[in-house]
Amino acid sequence: MNLGIVPDGMLERIALASGLLPTPLVTVTWGMGLSRVVVAAVNLGVFDALAEGERSDQEVALAVGTDPHGTRMLLHALNGFGLLRRRGDRFRLAPDARRWLLSGGKRSMVDAVRFVGLLWEQFTDLEDAVRHGVTQDFHRPGRPAEFWRAYMRGLASFARIASGEIARRAPLGGPPRSLLDVAGGHGMYSAGFCRRFPGLRATVLDLPDAADHGEVLVAEAGMADRISYVRGDLREVEWGEGYDVVLLFNILHNLSEADGRWALERARGALRPGGTVVVLDSEHSAAEGDLSAAAGFNELMFFLINGTRALPEETMRGFLLGAGFTGLKSKRLLTVPLAVMLTGRAP
Ligand SMILES: C[S@@+](CC[C@H](N)C(=O)[O-])C[C@H]1O[C@@H](n2cnc3c(N)ncnc32)[C@H](O)[C@@H]1O
Repeated sequence: MNLGIVPDGMLERIALASGLLPTPLVTVTWGMGLSRVVVAAVNLGVFDALAEGERSDQEVALAVGTDPHGTRMLLHALNGFGLLRRRGDRFRLAPDARRWLLSGGKRSMVDAVRFVGLLWEQFTDLEDAVRHGVTQDFHRPGRPAEFWRAYMRGLASFARIASGEIARRAPLGGPPRSLLDVAGGHGMYSAGFCRRFPGLRATVLDLPDAADHGEVLVAEAGMADRISYVRGDLREVEWGEGYDVVLLFNILHNLSEADGRWALERARGALRPGGTVVVLDSEHSAAEGDLSAAAGFNELMFFLINGTRALPEETMRGFLLGAGFTGLKSKRLLTVPLAVMLTGRAP
């Protein structure tokens, strides 16, 4: 997936084709602008203030308690980026904003946008990280509760959308009764499997801070009686055994290769014979050619925030084969097109 420059009208089309338009300046300026403007609008509640219909800039400012002139400027930027429609001093939500950027509701990406807002801070140190190779430990102890809340809620809003497709398409060979969701945090992937399989109970294993917020989300999803938590570092805590399914979703990119291999062996030990491991993770293209914006940026982001990287599918397959899994299958998903889902059967 890539972002591109879309010219407005004939003159801009010609300018772009002529090679005279400084395209890096366009992407640097408006790429930064789009991200920051949407994060600010979500944080200030601007989209929600327009949920009921068209309002003037003054009415929006009054509703969210902001300065009228500053609000007008923000609304103009949102209009320019195509997220609001404008008629004089009146604004209404464009379809994309209505679909994704209102609070509440199954499709709301509001929490995910707030989480991206937190990531902005981390990117201010990018030059240092590249210069000295010094990166952070994203999951370090002592982060404030607000970080964990935004992290878990942000990932949950995305997982709610993908979990239905994943639970439907993961080849499990029959309805499972028990599932271990390693580093499952918010619990929304477990909830998706529980919805699909009424006889299923799930256990989510994660760090205590993540589990505290995950439990709240699981309760909000009405799944508290079917999803329980084990708190601890996955490298230290007991995983249990005899599970029908073990999920390892978006955790391999947080681990060293040695720990990744070990995690797959540990998953095999936690499964009953014939049980299924399901791995979902961002994939790094192993090919030598150009990367997509998504693949390249994911790489950098994992490096910056955690000192880790996305793995090629072949490397992940190697982890599964090395741990003795058989019948490997890989699937691409409509709801998570940047990731690969790999499954294997425990001997
Ligand atoms: C990128 S999130 C993925 C969450 C969820 N599986 C998903 O796919 O949306 C990584 C998760 O791994 C957890 N995690 C990171 N290091 C861990 C460790 N050493 N032990 C247990 N959980 C860990 C984090 O708390 C977080 O919930």
